[in-house]
Amino acid sequence: MTKTPLALALLGTLAMQPLPVFAEDKPSATAAATPAPTPNPDPYANETKEQRDARMAWWRDARFGMFIHWGVYAVPAGFHKGQPVGGLGEWIMHGGKIPAEEYKPYANEFNPTQYDPDAWVALAKKAGMKYIIITTKHHDGFALWPSAASDWDIEATPYKKDLLKPLAEACQKHGIQLGFYYSQAKDWINDGASTPNPKPSRTMDEYIDQIAVPQMRELLTNYSAAPVIIWWDFPTAMNEERAAKLIELLKLKPGIIHNNRLLKIAPYGKVDMEKIKSGKRDPYSGDTETPEQHIPDTGLGDRDWEACMTINETWGFKSDDHNWKSSKTLIQHLIDIASKGGNYLLNVGPTAEGIIPEPSVERLEDIGQWMEVNSESIYGTQASPFTKLTWGRCTQKKHDNGTTLYLHVFEWPSDGKLLVPGLENEVKSAALLANGEALKFEKTPDGVQLKVPEKALDPNATVIKVEIAGEPKVTAPPSAPVDQKK
Ligand code: GLC
Repeated sequence: MTKTPLALALLGTLAMQPLPVFAEDKPSATAAATPAPTPNPDPYANETKEQRDARMAWWRDARFGMFIHWGVYAVPAGFHKGQPVGGLGEWIMHGGKIPAEEYKPYANEFNPTQYDPDAWVALAKKAGMKYIIITTKHHDGFALWPSAASDWDIEATPYKKDLLKPLAEACQKHGIQLGFYYSQAKDWINDGASTPNPKPSRTMDEYIDQIAVPQMRELLTNYSAAPVIIWWDFPTAMNEERAAKLIELLKLKPGIIHNNRLLKIAPYGKVDMEKIKSGKRDPYSGDTETPEQHIPDTGLGDRDWEACMTINETWGFKSDDHNWKSSKTLIQHLIDIASKGGNYLLNVGPTAEGIIPEPSVERLEDIGQWMEVNSESIYGTQASPFTKLTWGRCTQKKHDNGTTLYLHVFEWPSDGKLLVPGLENEVKSAALLANGEALKFEKTPDGVQLKVPEKALDPNATVIKVEIAGEPKVTAPPSAPVDQKK
């Protein structure tokens, strides 16, 4: 793709810049080069609750998505000049203090000839995931598509072809939603953002105007139905004026969902529970909270949230990260998150050849096997009515004739009795979800007691489907842990 004369002129200037030194990570502030946006750039500023509920409906039902961290950093894969660089794979340029002139040549080796977007999407679907978020540009500034705004893009690699287009097509084919992650303010190569260059050729405002805004426009207009989500990251040195220029672009894709990382966010995806629950929002705080690598203890009330987590430790591929979580842990995370009313965005970090590491594939297939039998207890469910269940988790679905409770049993009782503590409703039926086997139940002073088979059906989590009359009524949990042997 040909670059604009402006982009070429800028690139010429860039070439003469001193090497980045990573001394500091803050941009300079000067006046904006383009006119200020309209007074109300947030497309959802005046949205009613009903409109919002309708817009968020598919996302709330989905509960499970795939995060893909992919870029040039998959080439060094955690090593620079033969030495391991600690920290996250996608941060290697920063962590290894690699100057741009040493980092950029990695693009010559980024040649994902094994890239099979159809297989990636099929894998996500098999795992039970309903959407995918891919890093279109991470903090190293590299664009996975041919961007007219910067030469630091897929065309700088031997591969040259747009990586997003075939993914968008595969998603459309398989009925999977596609969202784009975009690093709007951290960019270690395109000068002017929170760049390591102490004397950047551009101001941060110019960066927003010349890189972030045009790239976001490309992403929002070149991929037919995609993206349905924009996953901003990370608001270093953003201010309202800069954020306004980006949020306004979302009007190009009516109904699009975006996260809370455009303007302001607590470090490392931490969540300020008190503030969230108070309902007070920062401006431009988007649709979703993004707790990172942790699951909030009790969910986030009415606020939509999505816990993003890794399968090993890194997001971007690292050849020496073998610290894989077990399938059981991942399945129980998915359940735990659903039981607290959130979504699970589970990451894969493909190699520079375009391969999703085998340990990730195996685990996603295991999750898929569990979902094949039990997904009814995840999709379209709401948070648990119980404060705490010592043996597992619960999700629920309300319907016209009452409520379905899905009990996810992690610790199977050894005496064949499972107490649902404090449940006061009339129970209509109880059955194992996997095979429909009906279970006997009785009311006790402590709640409803189910008679269960001797052994769990599934070592990861066995689901019991309980139909009750009306909305769940649960008495305050006993102060001492429930004794399952009673
Ligand atoms: C962290 C990492 C970043 C990654 C993000 C995903 O912020 O620093 O590299 O993309 O998590 O949530």
